[in-house]
Amino acid sequence: MKIHPEEYERIVFFTGAGMSAECGVPTYRGKGGIWHQYNWEDYACQEAFETNPEKVLDFHELRRRTLVTCEPHAGHHVITTLEKTHPGIHIVTQNIDGMHQRTGSRRVIELHGSAWRLRCVRHGVREDHGETYERRRCEHCGLWLRPDIVWFGDALDPQVVQSALEIIGGCDLFIAVGTSGVVWPAAGFPAVARRNGARCVEINPEPGELSGLYDDVIREPAGNALTNLFSV
Ligand code: OAD
Repeated sequence: MKIHPEEYERIVFFTGAGMSAECGVPTYRGKGGIWHQYNWEDYACQEAFETNPEKVLDFHELRRRTLVTCEPHAGHHVITTLEKTHPGIHIVTQNIDGMHQRTGSRRVIELHGSAWRLRCVRHGVREDHGETYERRRCEHCGLWLRPDIVWFGDALDPQVVQSALEIIGGCDLFIAVGTSGVVWPAAGFPAVARRNGARCVEINPEPGELSGLYDDVIREPAGNALTNLFSV
């Protein structure tokens, strides 16, 4: 199967952890998934952070040590190349790894925040790009800085969700790559695209909760599937 992007006005790539799996970034569920190894209750919720901030920061810092060793794969480059020539392409990602931006993609909505930012409840967000955190406490007030990512029990930024919904509601091609489709509200996005008449394509080696919603299903890893789908 080939897709000719020029036949579509607005294309959304909706990506999850499987998009980065071939970079060496572990997924959350399935084989080798982070949530099989770690209890999210101990590492990925506000309560855990309040109970033991250092333990939570250690966990997220460890993940960054992995991320700095990972490189984007051919599939990321395909999306970025398409984005450069097609003004209607957007990426809505659940990933916090910044991998799309590393290949040069610019129209990226990060639904779940970013591993490369920390946040002080009083003094806001700061960028932090090293292998280890530059600092763990706010330089202004001394409070612990928390990763600027969406944890279990956190609400997503309503403006971010609104932007994603507008883009997805207006697209005519929706390509989901590497998501299990179990985490809300993102799990509702394929249905939004479908309701608005978009052609919906799933790229995932395994069937998932939402596979029935898609017009076309490609049971291959992201890198191969995206390279074969588009002639860029
Ligand atoms: P999951 O770990 O739940 O699902 C990863 C999906 O990727 C599975 O459906 C796999 O079959 C698929 N997959 C694995 N390797 C692949 C490959 N090479 N190519 C394509 N697909 C592949 O990840 P998400 O759906 O992204 O939340 O999880 C959603 C959210 O749950 C994450 O954003 C995270 C997590 O808790 C936060 O961090 C807030």
